[in-house]
Amino acid sequence: MDVYEALYTTRMMRRMRKDPIPMETQCRILDAAIRAPNGGNAQRWHFLVVDDPGRKREFAEPYRRCREKEYADIARGALAQTIHDPEEHAATLRRIRASGDHFTEHFADIPLLLFVFSIDDHGGANIYPAIWSTLLAARAEGVGGVITTVLRYEEETVHKLLGVPTEDGWRMNVMLALGYPLGRWGVAANRRPVHEVASRNTWGGDFGATVPEPLWAPPAE
Ligand SMILES: Cc1cc2nc3c(=O)[nH]c(=O)nc-3n(C[C@H](O)[C@H](O)[C@H](O)COP(=O)(O)O)c2cc1C
Repeated sequence: MDVYEALYTTRMMRRMRKDPIPMETQCRILDAAIRAPNGGNAQRWHFLVVDDPGRKREFAEPYRRCREKEYADIARGALAQTIHDPEEHAATLRRIRASGDHFTEHFADIPLLLFVFSIDDHGGANIYPAIWSTLLAARAEGVGGVITTVLRYEEETVHKLLGVPTEDGWRMNVMLALGYPLGRWGVAANRRPVHEVASRNTWGGDFGATVPEPLWAPPAE
């Protein structure tokens, strides 16, 4: 797959089929992920795959509780404030919530949960390249997924359930949910364009070009 196609179309997929992801595919995805850059190449990361049905079910209830806590925080304005059009953002949050509801209701059917851990993530900088590489590689395999951080509200529960050696400094960064998507891949067009979010030579200086439409489009069918 063309790199740009992956970059433009790796949307967050919360609706997925129950079909398992074959082991060879899982290996290709993780083998690509561990190529990601990381500080000093210390590789203080760990990828814990959960596909046992009983184990997956153990996380369904904590996930639902955490999501309620997150939405309570959103309602009191503690999270996800936008610096752009608030009405447009409210509509986006409603869409995310609807697909998140479906995700939560079908949690136990998600084919694969991938918990990503690190030691000293340097504000996320040491682990997010690998997380994003996981999703890009998954995209190349036709596998969709979503980054979730909401379980941070019950981080200790997750660490206990999975037997994480927190005494050695390990902490969960994200839980990725992976599976073959029910929906179609499309360009992430709901982004402010480059000329609105980039400047040149000084903060707010005219970027010097306008990019009104995404510069990559899917080939005509
Ligand atoms: C750090 C981070 C945390 C996120 N946490 C969650 C989450 O807990 N649950 C969820 O459903 N989506 C989560 N997302 C996905 C975002 O909602 C998604 O990237 C955004 O809505 C844009 O979606 P799109 O790429 O499909 O346009 C997270 C994304 C990032 C980068």
